[in-house]
Amino acid sequence: MQLRLSAAGRVLVTGGAGYIGSHTVLQLLLEGCSVVVVDNLDNSSEVAVQRVAELAGEFRKNLTFHKIDIRDKEALEEVFASTKFDAVIHFAGLKAVGESVQKPLLYYKNNLIGTITLLEVMAVHRCKKLVFSSSATVYGWPKDLPCTEESSLSAMNPYGRTKLMIEDICRDMHHADSEWKIMLLRYFNPVGAHPSGDIGEDPRGIPNNLMPLVQQVAVGRRPALTVFGNDYLTKDGTGVRDYIHVVDLAEGHIAALKKLFEDPKIGCEVYNLGTGKGTSVLEMVAAFEKASGKKIPLVFAGRRPGDAEVLFASTSKAEKELNWKAKYGIEEMCRDQWNWASKNPWGYESPDTANGGVTK
Ligand code: NAD
Ligand code: UFG
Repeated sequence: MQLRLSAAGRVLVTGGAGYIGSHTVLQLLLEGCSVVVVDNLDNSSEVAVQRVAELAGEFRKNLTFHKIDIRDKEALEEVFASTKFDAVIHFAGLKAVGESVQKPLLYYKNNLIGTITLLEVMAVHRCKKLVFSSSATVYGWPKDLPCTEESSLSAMNPYGRTKLMIEDICRDMHHADSEWKIMLLRYFNPVGAHPSGDIGEDPRGIPNNLMPLVQQVAVGRRPALTVFGNDYLTKDGTGVRDYIHVVDLAEGHIAALKKLFEDPKIGCEVYNLGTGKGTSVLEMVAAFEKASGKKIPLVFAGRRPGDAEVLFASTSKAEKELNWKAKYGIEEMCRDQWNWASKNPWGYESPDTANGGVTK
């Protein structure tokens, strides 16, 4: 499989200090790209950017960071005025499903206004190549599996609705002006960490997702994992998801950029990035216990509102058109997640500053 970019470009990465962003920035640097990261550090730490620079070795000279909120049009203008970008990878956004139900305006304001501001500034500076972080959440509770890019779409919460709306905005942009070349990447469930164990997932506050919670139980920051629902019609009653190693996901972005740079026929395209395999909560916990040698105590609770029963991807479109396929399985995902967790039990912070701990 050949993913390498033939022409390394100058890439703006919004949200590049975050979990998926930091792993992707590292891959971009190793490809020889010049990368400018803008992030307001709302859900991340600048230490992640410093670690990426260290991992990039000689390529670190090609990395610049600006602490900017993408809704700040003037600040974004300055960044675009100082560099002519070949493309933008847009990760910046809020992503906590439950919080989006409680605070819908926060999500609409951040994710929609942020994206619209970015698109406006891109248009002014004639940078019209975009890779956008969409999500498998747009499939709602799917009727048929695996989810293909043609499956019906529905939003189960305001967060999901922002993803659907931004996808539509992107399609409209391309429709109005065919110079816009856009890749909408629907991620399934990213987990794991860079094999160095130096960068990984470190959300601020109480995590929402399964694996950061499992990890915090393993390092003693939480007493037990709450399993949401064991009465689903699945192999063991727990929810099934398509977990994908974050390094595979980062490589998926390189493949998408390559397509953007090299295929003149690109319009506004959508691709699933997953492995095509479904894994239950209990299977994932067992894999993590094996990788870490730690027991994860479980507490069974009712279903979490808005959760789908089973979600996994059809990967054939990305395989065929992006020439990209995930390489890692859940064993490697758990191995690398544990490596990160054991080296950084408090993430990028110390026990005193980490705000997700049970001691706080
Ligand atoms: P993350 O929270 O680690 O990263 C997002 C980054 O965006 C953070 O560093 C945050 O500080 C920054 N940010 C948020 N709003 C901003 C703003 N207005 N201006 C500047 N920076 C801002 O999340 P992630 O897991 O790396 O997710 C990246 C993207 O992928 C998000 O758009 C998310 O919705 C999407 N996504 C994530 C998942 C997942 O499970 N992690 C699944 C599907 C899609
Ligand atoms: N789960 C638990 N206990 C927890 C957390 C999660 O049992 O404490 C279960 C969930 O019920 C689900 C599975 O673990 O069955 C995965 O849940 P996550 O919260 O990790 O992931 P989701 O599939 O619910 O959603 C995630 C992101 C969304 C993204 C979606 C893409 O939160 O932003 O993946 O599929 F859109």
